[in-house]
Amino acid sequence: MAASGSAVGLGNIWKFPYMAGENGGAAFFIIYLALVFTIGLSVMLCEFVIGRAAQRNPVGAYGILKGGAWKYVGFLGVAAGFIILSFYSVVAGWAIAYIFKSVSGLLATSDPAALGALFKNFTADPWEPILYHGIFMALTVAVIIGGVNGGIERTSKILMPLLFLLLVVLAVRSLTLPGAMAGLKFYLAPDFSKVTGATLNGALSQAFFSLSLGMGALMTYGSYLSRSVNLIKTTMLITLCDTAVAFLAGLVILPAVFAFSFDPSAGPGLVFITLPAVFAKMPLGIVFAVLFFVLLSIAALTSSVSLLEVVVAYFVDERGWQRRRAATIGGGVIFLLGIPSSLSLGVWSGFTIGGKEFLSAMDYVGSNILLPVGGIAVSLFVGWVIYPRALDEATGGGAHRFQLAPVWRFICRYVAPIAVGWILVSGL
Ligand code: PFF
Repeated sequence: MAASGSAVGLGNIWKFPYMAGENGGAAFFIIYLALVFTIGLSVMLCEFVIGRAAQRNPVGAYGILKGGAWKYVGFLGVAAGFIILSFYSVVAGWAIAYIFKSVSGLLATSDPAALGALFKNFTADPWEPILYHGIFMALTVAVIIGGVNGGIERTSKILMPLLFLLLVVLAVRSLTLPGAMAGLKFYLAPDFSKVTGATLNGALSQAFFSLSLGMGALMTYGSYLSRSVNLIKTTMLITLCDTAVAFLAGLVILPAVFAFSFDPSAGPGLVFITLPAVFAKMPLGIVFAVLFFVLLSIAALTSSVSLLEVVVAYFVDERGWQRRRAATIGGGVIFLLGIPSSLSLGVWSGFTIGGKEFLSAMDYVGSNILLPVGGIAVSLFVGWVIYPRALDEATGGGAHRFQLAPVWRFICRYVAPIAVGWILVSGL
């Protein structure tokens, strides 16, 4: 449950719809599915296997299973933790802020211009979003220090199904809006002539980001699992859950985008601009809006905890720090690192890196470069370096059936490194 909590988060509900919107809709979605159910599944199993076999954080895990240069792959994961959580927390802060904006009735309109302006004014403010970013980081640190991972797990068990149900209700509302069918067609009727290198690259980075792969988050969680847990089943379940939530989020957002004539390639603001319009067209819209943003914030929290856990587990296991110290200092540094991301939608919007404003640049470095590189390393490591042991770990010493093991090995050895490497390089 905790690993599903890690996977299901802003990546599914905030990022997936706008990535699909920016990258041609259905073609993106189909490529995304293909990548998730081949490479994504395989890499996830690799991470669980490595983590549980080594019983350590990513740096320690590579160190103990093989050592040498492999340790640096673990460091890459820790670095990715810093980078990804820094902007992730900013966006999660937006979700918290939107709880209050929903309550105050500020969002009760379906006018694209008004909702766009509201989002722009809010994110451009130099203080307010940073305050919420701080609140979200503090919550994340508190969960990690309190060691209330058990609490997180119990919370996920109840609230994630609720989020799912809410998305179903919203999808029904969205799909029955006049003009919604154009959005459905955009989302589900592929036009492969629109596929470019950017589509592939976007789908790949989204797959890694959404499934929490490539930086050792699931490796860290794997290290807390007992030998009796069936990793193969767990991997399947998490992947299905994560994909179902992303699919639903697309089914909510994209039809609404077309129904209200928003711009599908509006980028990171898309969900925050589009959804309030849907709520405004529902009975008890404010209640649904508050519920939605509360659940989204919690979904983000169960993901951010796993991001910070990678950083903290490293400092605790390898550097001998106290958990409290690691969480506070790590969280503090990540908070500071997030400030330029927050400002990049306002006063610092003129400062760009490679044509992207700071928040998107951080996302790009984390999701399009570090996670895929981590994914290549993980699959090479399992496929070539520790395979017999990895298979034994995956099957729990032969206790669990794994008929697709040869396919897994083939994907780890060849398909994942070559495909991910190729997409990564062509994307750059
Ligand atoms: N999978 C999370 C989401 O979709 O929101 C984000 C994430 C969590 C990415 C943990 C990477 C990670 F290690």
